[in-house]
Amino acid sequence: MRSAGQAGLLGEGKGHMLLSLEGVDVHYGHAKVLHEINLHILKGEVAFIVGRNGAGKTTLLKTIAGFLKPSKGSILFDHQSIQGIPPEKVALMGIRYVFQDKRVFGELTVKENIELAAYPTKEKLSDSINRILSLYPRMDILINSKAKGLSGGQRQILLIGRALIGEPKLLLIDEPTEGLSAGIMEEILDVLTKMKGQISMIIVEQNLSVVSRMADRVYMMKEGSILKEITDKTVIEKSNALEGYL
Ligand SMILES: Nc1ncnc2c1ncn2[C@@H]1O[C@H](COP(=O)(O)OP(=O)(O)OP(=O)(O)O)[C@@H](O)[C@H]1O
Ligand SMILES: [Mg+2]
Repeated sequence: MRSAGQAGLLGEGKGHMLLSLEGVDVHYGHAKVLHEINLHILKGEVAFIVGRNGAGKTTLLKTIAGFLKPSKGSILFDHQSIQGIPPEKVALMGIRYVFQDKRVFGELTVKENIELAAYPTKEKLSDSINRILSLYPRMDILINSKAKGLSGGQRQILLIGRALIGEPKLLLIDEPTEGLSAGIMEEILDVLTKMKGQISMIIVEQNLSVVSRMADRVYMMKEGSILKEITDKTVIEKSNALEGYL
């Protein structure tokens, strides 16, 4: 991946609407879990979704990625309607989802894990590997180790690297720092910071100091609804100001 901060990385579309949800409801069976969700992100932005356990954050990401179908409302991605499109097609259109459970193929090596993800795309394996190494050079010595030996943070980086294969337009990451120590969290943040400006991201995160450091836009969720959208940098930069909305 190219270094962050270069001009024109996202092409001419920077600042244009990339994703927009309008009035989206989602049910699990008869239970309605998302209510009237309105969410927008511009190309190049890093948006965060914040909310307590059970607020509906994962449900929202799964809906965008096509794993759940809205019962009402619209989802537009890059000016195309994507609601009801199956997840494998949504992925091909350029939206990738990194699941909350951080599952890798433990018995396979890091390289084989990357290979499996690169296989269905046209990307060369060496390009996929080099992209991960540019984000996290220490993966180099682990490349032929079994993935089950990776630390939680390294596993997260492998999953992010896999999701970047084929250069998607939007990455959805569900709680990348969950369960990680402060030091490892900094490594993940470093990786995410390198990616900022290269790809648009929607990240679910409960650690408000992480949100404060990286967000262009924040959505506060509660009980399946979006309570507030915050784009004011002076509010975002104060994690205790964000805390007030939880
Ligand atoms: N497969 C399912 N079937 C029925 N209800 C579900 C299912 N998955 C989640 N729910 C319910 O939907 C609501 C939202 O869950 P969701 O996992 O989206 O929350 P979350 O904000 O991601 O929580 P966490 O912070 O714990 O990951 C919760 O009340 C949860 O119990
Ligand atoms: Mg969740």
